[in-house]
Amino acid sequence: MLHAVIMAGGSGTRFWPASRHAFPKQFLTLSGDRSLIQSTSDRCIGWIPAERQWVVTNEAQAAETRRQLPELPTGHVLVEPCARNTAPCVALAAAHLLKEDPDAVMLLLPADHVIQPVEAFEKAGKAAQTLVDEDRNRLVLFGVTPTFPSTGYGYIERGPQLGAGRSAYHVAAFREKPDRPTAETYLKAGTFYWNCGIFTWSARRILEAITTYEPEIGALTAQVAGTIGAPGYDATIRDLFPKMKSTSIDYAVLERDKSIVVLEAPFGWDDVGSWEAVPRLSGSDAAGNTIEGLHVGVDTKNCIVRTTDKHLVATLGLEDCIVVHTPDATLVAKRGDENAIKKLIEELKTRG
Ligand code: GDD
Ligand code: MG
Repeated sequence: MLHAVIMAGGSGTRFWPASRHAFPKQFLTLSGDRSLIQSTSDRCIGWIPAERQWVVTNEAQAAETRRQLPELPTGHVLVEPCARNTAPCVALAAAHLLKEDPDAVMLLLPADHVIQPVEAFEKAGKAAQTLVDEDRNRLVLFGVTPTFPSTGYGYIERGPQLGAGRSAYHVAAFREKPDRPTAETYLKAGTFYWNCGIFTWSARRILEAITTYEPEIGALTAQVAGTIGAPGYDATIRDLFPKMKSTSIDYAVLERDKSIVVLEAPFGWDDVGSWEAVPRLSGSDAAGNTIEGLHVGVDTKNCIVRTTDKHLVATLGLEDCIVVHTPDATLVAKRGDENAIKKLIEELKTRG
């Protein structure tokens, strides 16, 4: 059976001050009336019912996750005692799935991406499932055509086609977050995709792969798995999970495994990396502004303004800026450098 597993344990610092450790990006509603994590669940509900949906999150975010996704069975919100990146997260999810369904296949999803249209996503998800049903050894990735030499994504090198007429290919090589010159050569080569961060594979196969490449994570997961459903589970996971190596599934498995298949993503994909994604997703008015909340602007152009319905933000003679007001913090920034906010977050950390 196919299960959806939503990874929701990231820090999401680039959406400061709207996102915080206890309220990261996936809980934000950037357009429409459903948050990013709710939309991730909605996107699968057409063919994966809530009883087969799971979320892996952490203690600070568990209550809000349950509040936003009340349809999920209680035991399907898996709580990590601390963040160890995605390899331990996937191992933990696989162990739980296997307890319920020894032949489980997982569609693994980041909680905070925007994907449209839903129909195209469903079709692609089913095609990936078919690839895994044909061969339980396959690890299936979704690839999108790169548009700039990003150093923040994984790159998938396309190998031979899997079969005539299929938009699926063997993967020649996977490279996570290359440096800029390498990314530039990949872009020029024309045979690379960006990894969307969405995966389909058998729970058993991915757990075996993690155990092969990162034996310690595998061994600790096996110990935790032995206590699932037993009274000792909480104490065991609290003790053992923090001992796991912090590494991503991309470095741990995808850069090393030889049985990877890539499906060309037939859907629009945005990983909503920063405030710049908001005008991309919600559009902007004639002056190039994207406004949410109570705002009055005079001579205001190409700005992103976000406030509440109770707190007025007024801007005068402002161009290419981001203004985000929240009850306890306000961001005023120049647009143009999506990564610059990281510097601010570092500075804020040093001030406690
Ligand atoms: N539960 C849990 N625990 N979830 C986590 C953890 C963790 O420790 N760390 C990250 N996540 C979640 C994030 O919330 C996000 O939904 C997803 O896992 C991916 O983590 P990111 O930290 O956003 O990964 P990335 O953006 O650096 O890279 C991945 O995604 C790119 C596409 O957006 C990789 O798969 C890249 O290869 C890919 O290109
Ligand atoms: Mg990401």
